[in-house]
Amino acid sequence: MKKIVVLSGAGISAESGIKTFRDSDGLWEGHDVMEVATPEGWKKNQALVLDFYNQRRKQALSVKPNAAHYALVELEKHYDVTVITQNVDNLHEKAGSSKVMHLHGELFKTRSTFDESLVYDMNGWELKKGDKCEKGSQLRPHIVWFGEEVPMMDAATKEAMKADIFIVIGTSLVVYPAAGLVDFAPATSKIYVVDQNMPYISPRPNMILIEEKATIGMKKILEELILAS
Ligand code: APR
Repeated sequence: MKKIVVLSGAGISAESGIKTFRDSDGLWEGHDVMEVATPEGWKKNQALVLDFYNQRRKQALSVKPNAAHYALVELEKHYDVTVITQNVDNLHEKAGSSKVMHLHGELFKTRSTFDESLVYDMNGWELKKGDKCEKGSQLRPHIVWFGEEVPMMDAATKEAMKADIFIVIGTSLVVYPAAGLVDFAPATSKIYVVDQNMPYISPRPNMILIEEKATIGMKKILEELILAS
């Protein structure tokens, strides 16, 4: 089976009703990203950060995957598909994708502020001050904040290197190291880029740019790739 590697960003979840980051004037759901998505912001105001992610979780519980998420699931009938997502929502999993890597963490997980290897699944949507890990330290959202390392990057790079086909979908490609993943795809791979407002990407052979919404772009790719399989 040929291998498809997907790099998805906020744009794939937009049609499900989750706002992207950079389409809203530098504000993320009304908040300054530096206040809610950095270690400094956490140090300054834990209550604000906890509340922000509690709201994101509540929202995530009420939204559903869209046709673009489902198209990636459909591709698994014909290809070996790995989804590498920058999104912290769980819409790829809800749709049924079987191999999903979350580069920037996961909304429905928490981790210890004392030992980052202690990661827990959440039961509900609320993480509170005073919720502690087994060693007695405050739990924080399991999110990779600005300025933090991306622990999944090595594994994601290895996947990218195996891609026969690489699909970039709904990302502004401005946040590194995620944005550089496509450069690890072999020179022979076919690259699709889907975005309603095409981001800059270094041109290379076998690259197809589809300037459409995620659902429409993925429909086209699905039809083409099923025919080619
Ligand atoms: N269909 C396709 N593309 C869309 C749609 C849509 N319906 N709506 C928006 N887009 C595109 C935008 O044109 C933009 O290029 O999705 C992209 C979203 O870009 P960003 O908001 O920058 O999101 P992303 O690239 O995922 O951000 C990367 O930055 O804030 C951090 O950690 C956070 O993972 C995030 C990272």
